[in-house]
Amino acid sequence: MDLHDRVAVVTGAGSGMGRSTAQAFAQGGARVALLDLDGASADAAAEAIGNGAVGFDVNIADTVAVEKAFARIDEIFGRVDVCVNAAGNPAPGKIISRGVALPLDRFSDVIKVNLIGTFDVMRHAAMRMAGNEPDGEGERGVIINVASGAAWQGQSGQAAYAASKAGIIGMTLPVARDLAPFGIRVVDVAPGLFDTKMLAGLPEEAREGLKSMLLNPKRLGRPEEIADLMCHIVSNRYLNATTISIDAGSRMV
Ligand SMILES: NC(=O)c1ccc[n+]([C@@H]2O[C@H](COP(=O)([O-])OP(=O)(O)OC[C@H]3O[C@@H](n4cnc5c(N)ncnc54)[C@H](O)[C@@H]3O)[C@@H](O)[C@H]2O)c1
Repeated sequence: MDLHDRVAVVTGAGSGMGRSTAQAFAQGGARVALLDLDGASADAAAEAIGNGAVGFDVNIADTVAVEKAFARIDEIFGRVDVCVNAAGNPAPGKIISRGVALPLDRFSDVIKVNLIGTFDVMRHAAMRMAGNEPDGEGERGVIINVASGAAWQGQSGQAAYAASKAGIIGMTLPVARDLAPFGIRVVDVAPGLFDTKMLAGLPEEAREGLKSMLLNPKRLGRPEEIADLMCHIVSNRYLNATTISIDAGSRMV
């Protein structure tokens, strides 16, 4: 699909990979709806990106808020062609720590955002895409979800995060099967270690330790490298129902 004059919904678009992706889509000619829990950052990103981009203050774990946001997207943009789910909550926590079991809501909160929130946004986006006129090859839309290498190589303290990202990967094939008759593709990206707000809080020593797990290049990924991949997935209509790792060959220990 050519991004020109398309409408893209990007979650987690106030920062990091989501923001870079929204920017790259706008540069490709798309009008972008930027959804983020931090509405001010979504607004600021939309303003900087231009090309009719609009920011939305949305917690993707709040299904009423998601429904309202899509109703506004209908009013403002009138269609959805591309959807990127980049909003994510890393909240770490070991199953047992200092003799105390992890409170169950710490686990379920991560699942509510990363897995259920992603599905909720997907279903609203897919409904709009299914109503689009198909292009010459029958394509009506593209959905891209941000999983994580943690789905296969979660570190200690990442049970909830790893489970949520493995859930994203697990639902991709069945959702792609559901949506194939409508000409909608579903693809995941699984990043390794990227230099975004999510890792910025780590002490320098911890960041250096993470870099030692990278094969080549031995540096954190740049959000623009994810954005490049997102643009490629949108344009390459033979990519479907798969997960693409982008991780400098990292193997987490
Ligand atoms: N940075 C990494 O190394 C890395 C590695 C693998 C996967 N990921 C995944 O990449 C995605 C993007 O993360 P990033 O690295 O750009 O981090 P980031 O912190 O820069 O951006 C994440 C954005 O998501 C938003 N967000 C969080 N919870 C939300 C919610 N409930 N509703 C709406 N928005 C919400 C945040 O406000 C933030 O703007 C996430 O899904 C993350 O799990 C990141």
